Amino acid sequence: MGSNIKNVTVFGAGLMGNGIAQVAAQNGYRVTLVDVDKAFLEKGIARLEGSLKRVLRKKVEGEEAQQIAFNEVMARISTSTDAEGAVANADLVVEAIIENLEIKQDLFASLDKAAPAPCLFASNTSSLPIKELAAATNRADRFGGLHFFNPVPVMRLVEVVKAEETSEETHTALLAFGEGVGKRAVTCKDTPGFIVNRLLVPYLMEAVRLLDRGDASEADIDDAMKMGCGYPMGPLQLLDYVGLDTTKFIMDGWHNAFPDQALFDPSPLLDKLVSEGKLGRKSGEGFYSYTKK
Ligand code: CAA
Ligand code: NAD
Repeated sequence: MGSNIKNVTVFGAGLMGNGIAQVAAQNGYRVTLVDVDKAFLEKGIARLEGSLKRVLRKKVEGEEAQQIAFNEVMARISTSTDAEGAVANADLVVEAIIENLEIKQDLFASLDKAAPAPCLFASNTSSLPIKELAAATNRADRFGGLHFFNPVPVMRLVEVVKAEETSEETHTALLAFGEGVGKRAVTCKDTPGFIVNRLLVPYLMEAVRLLDRGDASEADIDDAMKMGCGYPMGPLQLLDYVGLDTTKFIMDGWHNAFPDQALFDPSPLLDKLVSEGKLGRKSGEGFYSYTKK
């Protein structure tokens, strides 16, 4: 474990929050996972348990030892719907809620009043400026980005974002935490998309435009990138995996901030799928259908 961080409170029990809670608990941190509704927490914990079993089956020999390891990790995780109460003893807050600036700012503003002064705040935002999130608090020096990748238990990277006001001490502690949960921690400036999403999201959106123009089919686009470039997933499969709503939030935010940048233009096809509730794997349908026939 790196630095003085022991108690970590993770906000959002969705795709990312679960994974962050899992890798933190696996690596010895005590974790409180927070969501707005008990039902979201139950769903999130069920997914976390499934993922943890998958990891332990590979890491630990023998069913009994796997069960013991499972119980040890799960004993370090608790859940809560009381946001302010959940940060009373936190050394680090990691926020992984919906990709919306105002909603995240509201959360951080209320947590700022409830968390101890030394507690560090970090956001897992894919695309929003850390500086603008930190501005909702009085601890911009103790605020940074911790951008994990989906699925968190498998992806080996975390981007550690140093915003203008993030102190050296905070950045060092966040890098140590990233490494403490078993990731390669890279340093990024507070620029749109940091490193990975600045390269990845425009590529994903080009695939949607290719499909929308009728230049190629879903299967051909995905197979082309898997078989022609060795990517583990094609771009449309990856969009379904990431969540079409999350991708739309990212694109809309960038488009509003940089309206002249054609690379960030919204896609009518993506907008249509999201408006129909087709959010990808998590809703059962996106570019592909995931409901069992
Ligand atoms: N929890 C634990 N383990 C998992 C897991 C999970 N949720 N999902 C997969 N795994 C493990 C499996 O146990 C398996 O391990 P072994 O090979 O050691 O047995 C391994 O991962 C591969 O899994 P599968 O065989 O089930 O499936 P796969 O070979 O198709 O791999 C994948 C699945 C790892 C997701 C792979 O397809 C992949 O790497 N896809 C690309 C993912 C990617 O690009 N992520 C980044 C998204 S962008 C982002 O996150 C940033 C943003 O802000 C939007
Ligand atoms: P998700 O929709 O799967 O989950 C979000 C969760 O946050 C939901 O369970 C929701 O109930 C909860 N939530 C909303 N408001 C809340 C609040 N005020 N307090 C506590 N919980 C609240 O979303 P996700 O895909 O996990 O994305 C979460 C964040 O991580 C976003 O900022 C996203 O951009 C970022 N991110 C996503 C991916 C990805 O591949 N999906 C990858 C990296 C980063």
